[in-house]
Amino acid sequence: MPIPPHTSSNPSTAGAIPETMTAVTARRYGDTDVLAIETIPTPAVTPGKLLVQVLGSSANALDWRILSGTPLFVRLVMGLRKPKRLSPGADVAGRVLAVGEGVTGFAIGDAVFGEAAGGAFSEYASVTAKNCVVLPARIDFVAAGATPVAGLTALQGLRREGAVQPGDRVLINGAAGGVGTFAVQLARILGATEITAVCSGRNVEQSRALGATRVIDYETEDYIAAGGQYDVVFDLMGNRTAGELRSILAPGARVVGVSGPMTNRWVGPVFHLMRMGRAFKGTDVSFHQFTAAPTPDDLNYLAELLASGELVPAIERVVGLDGVVDAIDQIASSHGRGKVAVVPSGAPNPAE
Ligand SMILES: NC(=O)c1ccc[n+]([C@@H]2O[C@H](COP(=O)([O-])OP(=O)(O)OC[C@H]3O[C@@H](n4cnc5c(N)ncnc54)[C@H](OP(=O)(O)O)[C@@H]3O)[C@@H](O)[C@H]2O)c1
Repeated sequence: MPIPPHTSSNPSTAGAIPETMTAVTARRYGDTDVLAIETIPTPAVTPGKLLVQVLGSSANALDWRILSGTPLFVRLVMGLRKPKRLSPGADVAGRVLAVGEGVTGFAIGDAVFGEAAGGAFSEYASVTAKNCVVLPARIDFVAAGATPVAGLTALQGLRREGAVQPGDRVLINGAAGGVGTFAVQLARILGATEITAVCSGRNVEQSRALGATRVIDYETEDYIAAGGQYDVVFDLMGNRTAGELRSILAPGARVVGVSGPMTNRWVGPVFHLMRMGRAFKGTDVSFHQFTAAPTPDDLNYLAELLASGELVPAIERVVGLDGVVDAIDQIASSHGRGKVAVVPSGAPNPAE
């Protein structure tokens, strides 16, 4: 998209930042019917931040949680009565248009990707510089924008929490969604030799294509009853008790609890995760609960894998800002399939 005419006199910018932009907005908590597409002011360039022209983004379960304000503790951080951030969206890939005071290592025109604290379902987003990295040349902005939140969750869960080693046997429960499709690929990249994916029948072929060596269709087979011995269980569903999991855990196994049932309206899966931690305490199995967060090292690692083609986001479809409602609805249904990439209209792709 050609950069629009100059409207800013800020010397640290590209000199071509429009005063307004098109953005998906949520002025209150609720279902996707509170989302609108509006013309709103382009974010200011503030210290420590980059102003990025968004050329790729994607929907995540996180966007649904923030939009709905559930579990309710989300509102303590995101705004008690209404969302503090007018525009949702966390995943961001694009071009730096302006560099805020105190930021080093970035220049106007750099292709970057990372995580925004909201605002990525917009033509322009303000992103904390330490939550971004510069992309290697020729990475597709659509692929980069589909990666940060889900890719970091899979990477940090498997590599840091699960300490996946070459030769490990890994089971991924919830393998077909945004995080799961990255997890199947990253387990292979980290050297796991047996990768068991648990998903519904319609996603069996997708899991195989991503590198799963065994796929269990949970609609016809129970993964505990199916047996096996695993060094790492990467659990996105939290739909089994610690006692049930024991029979499939190898000595010294690591169970990574990424999420769990929303059984409590205040804290969601927190009690489930605490129960799991307590149940494994004092055993030779360790339980790891974590919240993924961007780090430059992990973003750079993902960027290298994208550049080499070893990691390819499982993009189910690419939509414009008008497709954000459907994308979040699909996640809210608990049956997200791979990633839905979001590209603000007119965004150029791929990156040169
Ligand atoms: N801890 C963290 O930092 C962190 C970060 C990101 C996400 N999360 C959480 O992780 C969870 C997954 O996120 P996501 O982005 O991957 O969501 P997603 O894209 O919506 O995927 C959810 C997947 O769950 C699968 N599923 C539903 N019921 C299942 C069952 N009984 N057994 C196995 N799979 C089942 C669905 O596959 P089928 O259609 O095949 O059923 C779907 O692909 C969410 O709860 C999210 O909040 C946590």
